[in-house]
This record gives sequence, structure tokens and C-alpha cells, in this order.
Amino acid sequence: MARVLITGSADGLGLLAGRRLLDEGHDVVLHARNDKRAADTRAAAPGAAAVLVGDLAGIDDTRKLAEQATAAGPFDAVIHNAAVGYRERRRVVTVDGLSHVFAVNVLAPYLLTALVPAPRRLVYLSSGMHRGGDPDLADLQWERKRWNGSQAYADSKFWDTVLAFAVARRWPSVLSNAVDPGWVATKMGGRGAPDDLTEGAVTQAWLAVSDDEAAVGTGGFFYHRRSRPAHPAAGDPAVQDGLLAACAALTGVEIV
Ligand SMILES: NC(=O)c1ccc[n+]([C@@H]2O[C@H](COP(=O)([O-])OP(=O)(O)OC[C@H]3O[C@@H](n4cnc5c(N)ncnc54)[C@H](OP(=O)(O)O)[C@@H]3O)[C@@H](O)[C@H]2O)c1
Repeated sequence: MARVLITGSADGLGLLAGRRLLDEGHDVVLHARNDKRAADTRAAAPGAAAVLVGDLAGIDDTRKLAEQATAAGPFDAVIHNAAVGYRERRRVVTVDGLSHVFAVNVLAPYLLTALVPAPRRLVYLSSGMHRGGDPDLADLQWERKRWNGSQAYADSKFWDTVLAFAVARRWPSVLSNAVDPGWVATKMGGRGAPDDLTEGAVTQAWLAVSDDEAAVGTGGFFYHRRSRPAHPAAGDPAVQDGLLAACAALTGVEIV
């Protein structure tokens, strides 16, 4: 039995992956943005060991969540699942003055990775859209570029992949991988999404706990439990180090 933390698991793929792991007999800690969503989460997955609470849009709140997670650990695996999608019509700014999409999708998993004692396995939810991500580090906060919500989301999923690969390179004792769950009908994916919703939660749960040979590698990109090529720049150490340095500058917390 493994103890697994899943961020953003009040709904969608995070909740489905949590239920799947609970059904397999694992010890699962879920996470929701606020007390109301935590109550929803407890009702949706009554077998969860705990539901942590914290809004990932803010650096202080994410630090507090990291403290809760540290107290609720140690974990065998953490699935960095929480994200906001591609439908923000304008650049939303967080309490820290950052792009909301970047803060939730990239900076929060970075901070949690840095602050929560490293588990044996880390899984980062990416997307097929990451292949359209822009590896340019110059304007991560969209202060100078004209806002494009779809591109901001694709970029954020590219950076999640970079983060997964950077951690794989820096921390050889941790299995760190990225997952494209497919385009599935969650709140984010929308009703018309064509892929299989159940299958969309399988790969991240498998990478978190399975001893299959294919699940115990590191620095991989997976779709439906199969290795797939990632954006070539995600494997570039200079790009990885650039992202880690940018996140360290924003948070004062380093991944060494
Ligand atoms: N669905 C797809 O087709 C698809 C495709 C490729 C990749 N993905 C990736 O899969 C992952 C899960 O997506 P999903 O489709 O399950 O999306 P979803 O149904 O919208 O669920 C996202 C989860 O993240 C939580 N969340 C969002 N912002 C948060 C914040 N500031 N603080 C705390 N929690 C927050 C949401 O909480 P609330 O429920 O309270 O809003 C929700 O539980 C994401 O990383 C996404 O990028 C999804």
C-alpha cells in the first residue's frame, strides 16, 4: 500500500485518480482549494485519509499547503494534478502580481516539489497541448505579450513537463514523470471532449504506485501508459535550469 497525495482532487481527473487508488487499497490524501470544496471532496471520496485545503494561486497559501502536506506525509508519491484551463479571456493577475495560469499550473507544483519532503515518485499532469508550448523564458508572466489563453495554457503544460524532467535530472533517487491524460470530458476538457474519461485517470495512478517495469523509470512522458515523445526543448538542461531559476527568483525557494 502506498500513501499518495493528489493536488486539485475535488473534481475531474484528480478525483478519479484518487478514487481509483482508494479502490486499489492505497492510502490517499486529497486536496481542495477551500473548505467548501474540501467538504465536497470528502463527500465524493469518503475513503480518503485526509483532505488538505489551500488555494494554489497564491505563494503564501501554497507554502501553507506545503506545511499541511509535510505534516500529512511522508508520501510515497505526489500527483501534481491541479490546474486551470485555457479559457481565461484576459490575463488574470494573482495576489503576487503573477499570471494566474502560470501561478496555479507551474509555480504551485514547483513550490510543493521544493517544500514537501521528496517522495519516491512524482507525477506531473501535462497535456498534448504542451507540444505547442513556447520555450522562451523571457515573458513567463505575459506582461509584454498580447494575452492568448490557449497559448498561456499550452506554455504552462510545457513548463510542467520541463519541471518533471528537471526534477528527474536533479534528483536521481526520485522517479519523476509527466502525463498527457488525453482530452477528456471534465470541467476543463468540456462536454464534447473525445477521449475516454476513465482512461484519463489511469496513467497518473499507475505511475504513482505500479511496479511495472515501464512505471519505474524517470524523466518520461506518458499517454495511456505508453511512452511518448515530449516537446524536444523539455529535455534541454538549459531550459530546465532557466525555469528552476525563474521559479526560485519568484518564490525565494530553490530546487537544488
Ligand atoms: N481534461 C482534459 O482534457 C485535460 C487534457 C490534458 C491535460 N489535462 C490536465 O489534467 C489535470 C486535471 O484536469 P481536469 O481536466 O481534471 O480539470 P478540472 O476538472 O478543471 O479539475 C482541476 C482541479 O484543480 C483544482 N484547482 C484549480 N485551481 C485551483 C487552485 N487555485 N487551488 C486549488 N485547486 C485548484 C480544481 O478545483 P475546483 O474543482 O474547486 O475548481 C479542480 O479540482 C490538469 O493538470 C490539466 O491541465 C486535462
